[in-house]
Amino acid sequence: MRKKIIAGNWKMNYCVNKAEDFVSEIVNTIDTDEVDVVICPNFVALDRISELLDETNVKLGAQNVYFEDKGAFTGETSANMLAAVGVDYCIVGHSERRQYFGETNEIVNKKAKKLLEVAINPIVCVGETLEERESNKMFDVVKKQVEESLTGIDKSLLMKNVVIAYEPIWAIGTGKTATAEQANEMCKYIRSVVKDMTDEETAQNVRIQYGGSVKPSNANEILNMSDIDGALVGGASLTNDFVAIVNY
Ligand code: PGA
Repeated sequence: MRKKIIAGNWKMNYCVNKAEDFVSEIVNTIDTDEVDVVICPNFVALDRISELLDETNVKLGAQNVYFEDKGAFTGETSANMLAAVGVDYCIVGHSERRQYFGETNEIVNKKAKKLLEVAINPIVCVGETLEERESNKMFDVVKKQVEESLTGIDKSLLMKNVVIAYEPIWAIGTGKTATAEQANEMCKYIRSVVKDMTDEETAQNVRIQYGGSVKPSNANEILNMSDIDGALVGGASLTNDFVAIVNY
């Protein structure tokens, strides 16, 4: 039985004080027994939010990482540095990073592997553009992203530690959600790709989230689909809507 995982991706929002206020406000209202809940604030808020989450079941996530351990990489943050402030999960390959910062599947793969070395669980994002969907290329595009982003990762790590997030780019921040059927169809397909890369057991255990305009009004339907194991929530994670989604 795959445990659901709901992660809030705050993106570039909330300074440290606001982040602390908001987490303090919601953290006690989150019932996390049945669901893994992850909050992903900006880098500068990680340390303070880590302290706030310390005595709770809510996990801390980062939004990015660099794949080298240390050195002359101005502006970057290593996986070790994230581990040192108590980060449990880290998003890699978000479409905004692929689009604005030139992140490729190869880079995503290096980042995911580096995170696993320090026992941080990568949330690996994949998803097609509207053009790719309209020209019916979405399965090929997502297959390539999954294969190249996860290549060389040991199947026991894949099964237990990696989370895949299917986020169709046309549904991110647009208010346009994929239908629950569309989302489930792709999540199921991703599971079959993982099966071809590994085996049935790994495919049945790997967790696959859906992301893209998830909100309280659609969370229940999406999260009850057969192959969707959680949600990666952007906009709605910045308000009390996040609590409603977690308690879907
Ligand atoms: P959204 O973002 O929920 O605002 O569409 C999702 C994401 O980018 O992870």
